[in-house]
Amino acid sequence: MAREVKISPSLLSADMSKLGEDVRRLQDAGADMLHVDVMDGHFVPNITIGPFVVEAIRKIAAIPLDVHLMITDPDKYLEPFADAGSDHITFHIEAVEEAGGLIKEIQSKNITAGICVSPDTPAEALADVAGDVDMILVMSVYPGFGGQKFMERVLPKTEALRAMAPERVNIEIDGGITADNVARAGAAGANVIVAGTAVFKADDMAAAIEQLRTNCRNALK
Ligand code: DX5
Ligand code: ZN
Repeated sequence: MAREVKISPSLLSADMSKLGEDVRRLQDAGADMLHVDVMDGHFVPNITIGPFVVEAIRKIAAIPLDVHLMITDPDKYLEPFADAGSDHITFHIEAVEEAGGLIKEIQSKNITAGICVSPDTPAEALADVAGDVDMILVMSVYPGFGGQKFMERVLPKTEALRAMAPERVNIEIDGGITADNVARAGAAGANVIVAGTAVFKADDMAAAIEQLRTNCRNALK
């Protein structure tokens, strides 16, 4: 199956004083989805946005919201993020005792479900759920902040998860991705690319998004 490459720029790097403008800029620049980084100050040492802001983004966004929950007790917040208009919800395997029930609950709301592994979590941690989710998110930085350096060491894990998951499951990678390293992510099997800094720091946002897509697609396994 020729896997489609999607670029999901992270709003963590947006200018929050003009978030609406940056959402429109990303859409006009060819983003496939908007990666919304939700942080609670417990699961990660940073606090960002909640359902209230997702609702505001939903009102103006014409592309899917790819919501990444870096929070403890994600099950407690499914309802508000679903009601806010999330199109995809990813939670961390490290934040739950059992992931299967929450995956089904997300999907029961017509929202695609993702499960995420932080850099130190092995691929085996997803063995029981790799076949249930719609997408697996591999963190290539420690969650909490944008602008960190890409961690090469997660590439073998990305390959293992690509092999473990059924063909229909997308593999997303998130953290420190640039036009220079995205081909290695694609070669490892990642077809959904999160990038914050690389997109927002670019002089030409559309060219940066297209470069990420082309470089990933040319290397995609
Ligand atoms: C980090 C977030 C990432 C981050 C990516 O916890 O999950 O999405 O914002 O930003 P860059 O591309 O700047 O590393
Ligand atoms: Zn993220």
